[in-house]
Amino acid sequence: MKPDTPRTHRLKDYRPPAYLVDHVDLDFALDPTRTEVRAALKIRRNPAADAPAGKALILDGEQLELGGVAIDGKPLSPGDYAVDDKTLTIPKVPAKPFTLSLTTFINPEENKALQGLYRSRGVFCTQCEAEGFRRITYFPDRPDVLSTYTCRIEADTALAPILLGNGNPVERGKLARGTRHFAVWHDPHPKPCYLFALVGGDLAHVASTFKTMSGRKVDLKVYVEHGKEARAAWAMDSLKRSMRWDERRFGREYDLDVFNIVAVSDFNMGAMENKGLNIFNDRLILASPETATDANFESIESVVAHEYFHNWTGNRITCRDWFQLCLKEGLTVYRDQEFSADERSATVQRILDVRLLRSTQFTEDAGPLAHPVRPEAFIEINNFYTPTVYEKGAELVRMIETILGREDFRRGMDLYFERHDGEAATIEDFLKSFEDASGRDLSHFKLWYGQAGTPELVCSLAYDKAKKQAELKFEQVLPPTPGESKKKPLHIPVRVGLIGANGQEIALKRETGEAIEDGVLHLTKRTQTFRFSDVPSSPVPSILRGFSAPVNVTFNLSDRELEFLMAHDSDLFNRWQAANTYATRTLVDMVKSLRKGEKPNGRASGFVKALGIAVGLDDHEAAYRAELLKLPSQADIARVIGRNVDPGLIFRAHRQLAKLTGTTLGSLLEGLYDEAKPSGSFSPDAKSAGQRALRNAALTLLTARGTAADEARLANHFFKAGNMTDEQHALMLLAAGSHPAREKALARFHDRWKDDHLVIDFWFAAQAQYPQRPAIAQIKALTRHPLFSLTAPNKVRALVGTFAMQNQVQFHRPDGAGYDFVAKQVLAIDRFNPSIAARMLVAFRSWHTLEAERRAAAKTALQGVAKTPNLSADVYEIVSKMLDQ
Ligand code: TRP
Ligand code: ZN
Repeated sequence: MKPDTPRTHRLKDYRPPAYLVDHVDLDFALDPTRTEVRAALKIRRNPAADAPAGKALILDGEQLELGGVAIDGKPLSPGDYAVDDKTLTIPKVPAKPFTLSLTTFINPEENKALQGLYRSRGVFCTQCEAEGFRRITYFPDRPDVLSTYTCRIEADTALAPILLGNGNPVERGKLARGTRHFAVWHDPHPKPCYLFALVGGDLAHVASTFKTMSGRKVDLKVYVEHGKEARAAWAMDSLKRSMRWDERRFGREYDLDVFNIVAVSDFNMGAMENKGLNIFNDRLILASPETATDANFESIESVVAHEYFHNWTGNRITCRDWFQLCLKEGLTVYRDQEFSADERSATVQRILDVRLLRSTQFTEDAGPLAHPVRPEAFIEINNFYTPTVYEKGAELVRMIETILGREDFRRGMDLYFERHDGEAATIEDFLKSFEDASGRDLSHFKLWYGQAGTPELVCSLAYDKAKKQAELKFEQVLPPTPGESKKKPLHIPVRVGLIGANGQEIALKRETGEAIEDGVLHLTKRTQTFRFSDVPSSPVPSILRGFSAPVNVTFNLSDRELEFLMAHDSDLFNRWQAANTYATRTLVDMVKSLRKGEKPNGRASGFVKALGIAVGLDDHEAAYRAELLKLPSQADIARVIGRNVDPGLIFRAHRQLAKLTGTTLGSLLEGLYDEAKPSGSFSPDAKSAGQRALRNAALTLLTARGTAADEARLANHFFKAGNMTDEQHALMLLAAGSHPAREKALARFHDRWKDDHLVIDFWFAAQAQYPQRPAIAQIKALTRHPLFSLTAPNKVRALVGTFAMQNQVQFHRPDGAGYDFVAKQVLAIDRFNPSIAARMLVAFRSWHTLEAERRAAAKTALQGVAKTPNLSADVYEIVSKMLDQ
């Protein structure tokens, strides 16, 4: 392992900062390889610090060349300070407020970690969250140091005609001599340095304006590459809808004169909420019907909203320390989910969100990387931008809403904004606002923030015919997670319904006769029983309606009862859930049969029949039917099986069921395929997208059937596609099989889109999913393709990421070739971009659940990574946890 083990940071060690920075003046002389940064920090002692006065001033700084230090204009001599590779320490500073001036030099061109100031296709841009600002200048790089900023940017006019900063524009002009110009920006809202940003480059833009609820005019701009302006229209539209929605739903108004978004090509994550200057991965901005899928349009809408919503939940109120990350991320995901639910179909949105939660967060929670929504320790904070912090974090906010009810929840949010505006807050502050606004005690609920693992709810129902009484019994089973073997029972809000034999909803009444109007039961103990009176006949229970808590439900409903729920549940989420449970159960059975070499049992045909009936019900919207038709993914099945997993068998079972479904429901699916086609020209709206989704879901199953007509339909779908949604879906299906047109389709797609760096990623991803044996050799060859680049995160995600996360059979080859390939990529990437390397390595997170041969091969690959010298802290932390079982 590593000789000097990286340092662990702990929540319990939090201390207020010794010094505060009230204002920051920055002056950048942009240069591709040697940018000069002059900073002037107005510093004073923190009256709230618990340390004795006269403490040394310690600033963070990495990969900086220090040009000079001065205090109140007086240069310091080298003996007055000390510099190492992580800090600048000044032992003696004035007792009174003072100005610290620093000059640093940085090399944006060489910066392939994409943290701090770097260049993406010639554009200067920054990424400071979480700890990137320390790569720009020396600074107390922690979110509880809030300052106002004035930023002057100077650059070559031809190289960077556009110069953008946080806040409002103040001044711009040409320099007297030469070819350079400058711009000055001022941000009046105190912010932590992770929200600092600048952009300099030759960019085009689209512009619009927004009138806020109090009548102020805001200038909106979305900056993109020249020639891509038309592809920014959807992002702009999404931004305006987000701004309006936050006013209506949460009373939140925008607070600057301008709001700028910049799309860049090389970006470690999706997007970043820098104050007044959001920077985006261009795949989350650029969209046109020809180049982007409906899924792209949808994620652009939700990420634009997410980053905009951060203006209040993240920026105006920020986090005290990085352990509180869910305070901004979980809350902001909850807000963007609600926005999407309002803009589109609420039920379909909930299905998509729950699918994502289960596939990413439940998997994380069940393995070596499990951690609480508020972690207590980390080595590298970049490793904690996880599904647990984001998606489970959002579920915790949603549960607060369920417990309090919509009105008290809104009151709690209002109080939170009122109390903590301009502050760096904690989860305790957040919960207290809801307690004070509602009078409810959330101290038991708070356990959710500190306890990792997905609770299992074991439920059973008893019915007493004579007393006309139903009894629902629950037991909370809380599985151990690393470092936490014993858990306390949680406060779990469980929304339930009882459905009578006639398919009608039974009004829920307690024994006392009191009605349970919202259907929410509050579980607070390890085991708990709820009795309902006046239940006329033996009911079928509908448990966890709308997925009211992030738990696994175990309830031994019969197949007939699931069919009943698929037809009658008034909660449409749970109707889909019943279908999903039935499909999962069927697939798990099929895997068992394959393992024993037996023929599949009769459950599969029962499931397919019930699915046909559910999809055929004409009161369902197209997008919802599409969700019904999507079988659980191979990874979903692996997660449910949970131990001794054989991905090869899962792949075969999945194919079997898809084929059986396509064959049995053939004429229904053909009908849907022919009828669901939206009429007129392409529109990205939810209804049209739903129709395309339904058609493509039908196409997937018909392709699995595999008749000559099905092959012809698929080829036609690809070669005659009028939009990228259809083209990409067909490409993926073609590339996954042995269709005669496979090579021709891939070649055509390449030739058509080779000059579009976003669209070509579909081509890389489609091949990364190829489930046949030559896949690894082909993918290796693709890493040498001229359009592939290991330093471009989108390319790495498309090829290596898709292979490791989606190609279950080939990644999990029993001989370990898949593991070996991914481990080698991780090590290569780790030399220049540790965050991306660590993220790719996460693909191994379920290695312990594999059958013995694969488990051994995966372990060997992980050990190979672990013993490599000079690992980054990022990769070191992930690999150590994975081997620490
Ligand atoms: N705060 C960003 C968001 O969720 C996440 C983010 C963007 C990020 N870039 C990053 C986190 C780089 C860590 C490192 O909206
Ligand atoms: Zn966020």
